Amino acid sequence: DWTPDSFIETTIAALKEKIGNDKVVLGLSGGVDSSVAAVLLHHAIGENLHCIFVDNGLLRKNEFEDVLDSYQHMGLNVRGVNAKDRFLDQLAGLKDPEQKRKAIGRVFIEVFDDAAHEVQDVTWLGQGTIYPDVIESVSVKGPSATIKSHHNVGGLPDFMKLKIVEPLNTLFKDEVRRVGKALGIDPLILGRHPFPGPGLAIRILDDITPEKVAILQDADAIYINNLKESGWYDKVWQAGAIFLPVQSVGVMGDERTYEHVICLRAVSSVDGMTADWSHLPYELLAKISNEIINNVKGINRVVYDVSSKPPATIEWE
Ligand code: XMP
Repeated sequence: DWTPDSFIETTIAALKEKIGNDKVVLGLSGGVDSSVAAVLLHHAIGENLHCIFVDNGLLRKNEFEDVLDSYQHMGLNVRGVNAKDRFLDQLAGLKDPEQKRKAIGRVFIEVFDDAAHEVQDVTWLGQGTIYPDVIESVSVKGPSATIKSHHNVGGLPDFMKLKIVEPLNTLFKDEVRRVGKALGIDPLILGRHPFPGPGLAIRILDDITPEKVAILQDADAIYINNLKESGWYDKVWQAGAIFLPVQSVGVMGDERTYEHVICLRAVSSVDGMTADWSHLPYELLAKISNEIINNVKGINRVVYDVSSKPPATIEWE
């Protein structure tokens, strides 16, 4: 019978056997899968696991610092790499969603390759791939597509020539969460909503500037904090704020304003393939809208997305 404890025991033994005294590099994303994969590998090979956590400047507000801190508390051998400027430079002026994704995938590969080169004599690349990723490896938007297109133009970066170790590739998401819980991983990491690799870049429906990122981070933080305080965070599968590329007229005192619009999105889903918009209470939406408009300079209107998937997608880009 499958139990998290039996899985952990046999997986750690198998990893020890397979990897021996070799070194492994692994990219942490802050998400559940890479975190659980890292902790399993850490139990098996300790300091020979070298984790790399990249700040692409497109994470949620304070996320990089908070998550890096949790990783360090978990005892992981982790290096945080601040690459905000490299990503923002390459994104400057890009509006097309696929161009943004490509730029982010390309810079991620460069940054990760640089960081991986600093670890001497690496043999393995650890990955948090789970079973659904294996069967859907043809996903159009996923990071594998980005890596493939990079591969076609420039040849493989060195870290992609490493042998691959994927301790979670037989598990479904709920099993990964159960394993993570049995390993004692912080519930804040295990209960996290999915977050796209390109991050806030695909939630700013426009070209990316540091100012727009800061506005969206502030609005998103108000939204997510309210979901947590009201108990709704754990009832929705994924939520986030979106920066719309329109301005709308408003009034403040005697003044007419002409500022940006934030859209709130929340969905319930099992696997992200289909999703229903979440029926958040009106009172909660009203509170979030007021807080965003009163506290985030540059925003004078908040709207809520009432579209389900299909035909809408979860993300707007
Ligand atoms: P859609 O928008 O296709 O999203 O309904 C389904 C799920 O996939 C996530 N998503 C992405 N994840 N890179 C990722 O790593 C991407 O480019 C990407 N696009 C969408 C989305 O957040 C949702 O969980």
